[in-house]
Amino acid sequence: MNTIRRLLSAGALLAACLLGLPAHAAAPAAPTPAADRSLAGDAACTRCHDQGEAKPVLSIYQTRHGVKADTRTPGCQSCHGASLKHIRNDNNDEVRPPVEVSFSRSDAATPQEQVSTCLTCHKNGQRSHWQTSAHDNAGVGCSNCHSVHVPKDRAVTRATQAETCYACHKSERAQSHRLSSHPLAAGKMVCSDCHNPHGSTGPSLMKTGSVNETCASCHADKRGPFLWEHAPVADNCTNCHTPHGSNITPLLKARAPFLCQSCHTGDHAGQVQSGAHLQSGAITTANGTLPLGSAAGRAQLTARGCQNCHSQTHGSNHPAGAKLLR
Ligand code: HEC
Ligand code: HEC
Ligand code: HEC
Ligand code: HEC
Ligand code: HEC
Ligand code: HEC
Ligand code: HEC
Ligand code: HEC
Ligand code: HEC
Ligand code: HEC
Repeated sequence: MNTIRRLLSAGALLAACLLGLPAHAAAPAAPTPAADRSLAGDAACTRCHDQGEAKPVLSIYQTRHGVKADTRTPGCQSCHGASLKHIRNDNNDEVRPPVEVSFSRSDAATPQEQVSTCLTCHKNGQRSHWQTSAHDNAGVGCSNCHSVHVPKDRAVTRATQAETCYACHKSERAQSHRLSSHPLAAGKMVCSDCHNPHGSTGPSLMKTGSVNETCASCHADKRGPFLWEHAPVADNCTNCHTPHGSNITPLLKARAPFLCQSCHTGDHAGQVQSGAHLQSGAITTANGTLPLGSAAGRAQLTARGCQNCHSQTHGSNHPAGAKLLR
């Protein structure tokens, strides 16, 4: 009996090899040119998995994976393997042996095997940094985000993408409902406007090489270079902003003056009151001229935001903008 099983399984493996399919437990699978991906080839599976199924797997024909006129289109066996044991069920087991690459039965294929099946066709482009990405390292597979048997893929479809991510990233959902946020909850923006969930060369799965480059792709006016840079801006927008949501407008990590004072110790009010830094006379700011001596008091105690005077938080192009006052 055992010998027969072994022979059968060897047969299945051989068949898989002949078909050029990703054999079970094989290292990164080779492309599958030889598999019969036509509708007729699919009949090996669809003679049982037909319209009558509780889960309508045939909806795959309404997706990009169903465009049979395109020769790159997979057949059932390109993704699930030849699965002869599953088809034959020689022992008449009550529950059939699993397919070679199952995306739902954990006894049938490791996450790595599932992923490498998809990567046989999709390893380039957006996925070129998949390996060792945060999701790869955490064992998140393609089918944790993508659902290939439904007419509209929930990750690719903008209206359902955020919900797909929130299934695992709950705190980002909460943040998107705060007073100040990117219009994620309104559906006008999606996670993949900033992130490449498949991996990237930048931090935090940024779509580009850095946080600032990603932000500047939409907020070009903050890109610089400025005549007078504000060091933390050129360094990283997230020194002051949180990307997903904040109760302090606009998307700030803390309220001024506390935000500013997290780096600038003291409020230079001592100097202002003593006139020590006003040797040259009255201060001219964007809000007009402040007479000597009356200037600031203690800036944070008088509820004056630092930006009342230092209005050019992101940098200044004014010849006299060194202190970000204009
Ligand atoms: C002779 C009928 C029959 C054929 C042919 C058949 N299946 Fe199945 N399949 C079933 C049944 C019945 C189940 C439900 C599980 C059980 O009760 O054994 C199932 C379950 C599955 C499952 C879910 C369980 C798992 O292993 O992940 C997948 C996926 C699957 N089949 C894919 C395929 C593919 C792909 C083919 C073609 C290579 C195929 N089936 C051919 C009858 C069939
Ligand atoms: C692009 C790869 C791909 C192709 C092609 C493909 N499948 Fe699947 N199949 C999957 C994935 C991934 C799952 C896991 C559930 C999901 O993501 O929808 C799955 C799940 C299934 C299931 C189990 C459904 C359940 O959840 O119980 C069956 C049955 C199945 N496929 C049959 C087929 C048949 C029959 C074909 C050919 C008509 C086919 N598959 C073609 C990738 C594929
Ligand atoms: C045999 C090759 C092949 C395999 C294997 C394959 N795909 Fe595809 N996939 C394609 C082709 C061809 C397209 C059409 C899009 C294109 O032009 O590149 C596509 C498109 C897609 C799209 C875009 C769908 C859309 O609506 O725009 C997603 C998402 C996708 N595949 C996910 C997967 C996942 C997940 C797997 C593994 C479960 C997988 N693919 C396995 C060939 C394949
Ligand atoms: C964490 C969620 C997530 C995982 C995991 C994931 N994807 Fe995606 N995928 C997305 C999102 C979101 C998009 C839409 C991106 C966009 O619109 O720019 C997408 C788009 C795609 C596309 C269509 C766009 C294109 O490049 O042609 C393909 C194909 C694809 N993914 C394949 C895969 C494969 C293969 C895997 C596994 C190696 C995978 N994805 C894993 C979320 C994910
Ligand atoms: C199946 C669960 C799951 C889904 C769905 C999922 N993620 Fe993740 N994600 C994780 C895990 C696990 C990690 C790694 C541990 C952590 O940082 O929480 C992670 C990490 C991340 C990180 C941090 C990366 C880093 O380098 O610190 C980002 C960004 C991210 N995911 C974005 C997304 C986006 C965008 C989507 C939707 C397109 C998504 N995730 C969908 C599970 C998931
Ligand atoms: C406006 C750009 C932008 C959008 C849109 C965006 N993110 Fe992020 N995300 C970032 C940045 C920037 C970081 C790094 C934050 C940091 O370093 O403080 C980040 C970090 C993360 C992290 C890692 C958090 C941690 O504590 O390490 C996760 C998870 C994440 N984002 C998920 C999502 C999800 C899910 C969505 C969609 C609902 C989304 N992001 C939309 C820019 C964005
Ligand atoms: C895909 C384009 C896009 C990207 C990338 C982007 N933003 Fe935005 N940002 C927007 C849009 C759209 C708004 C909303 C404008 C509105 O509501 O008038 C916005 C608003 C803001 C606001 C003002 C929020 C408020 O409450 O008024 C801040 C601050 C901001 N973004 C910072 C960032 C930072 C930091 C990054 C990088 C992590 C970033 N943005 C990346 C499109 C983008
Ligand atoms: C030193 C702290 C700090 C850093 C770093 C910073 N910002 Fe800001 N940002 C602020 C403050 C304070 C405001 C509100 C007052 C204002 O507009 O000056 C603001 C407002 C904004 C606004 C909304 C108002 C407007 O002018 O459109 C956007 C968008 C914005 N920042 C984007 C960015 C981007 C992109 C970066 C990275 C290149 C960045 N910020 C870095 C402090 C900072
Ligand atoms: C993350 C730390 C950080 C935060 C937050 C921050 N700054 Fe700065 N700021 C710096 C650094 C670093 C410099 C450069 C100091 C230098 O060149 O000696 C600088 C320079 C300045 C200068 C010019 C100083 C000079 O001597 O040329 C002014 C004015 C200034 N910041 C005001 C502000 C204001 C107003 C805020 C709040 C909206 C703020 N900063 C928030 C780190 C920060
Ligand atoms: C009433 C206007 C005003 C307010 C409010 C104000 N500043 Fe200033 N600040 C100035 C002027 C004017 C200078 C330039 C002094 C000089 O050129 O010597 C300056 C200079 C600076 C400098 C450069 C170093 C120095 O002491 O010369 C920093 C850093 C700074 N301010 C931070 C802050 C922070 C942080 C706040 C909020 C807690 C703040 N300022 C509030 C007017 C103001």
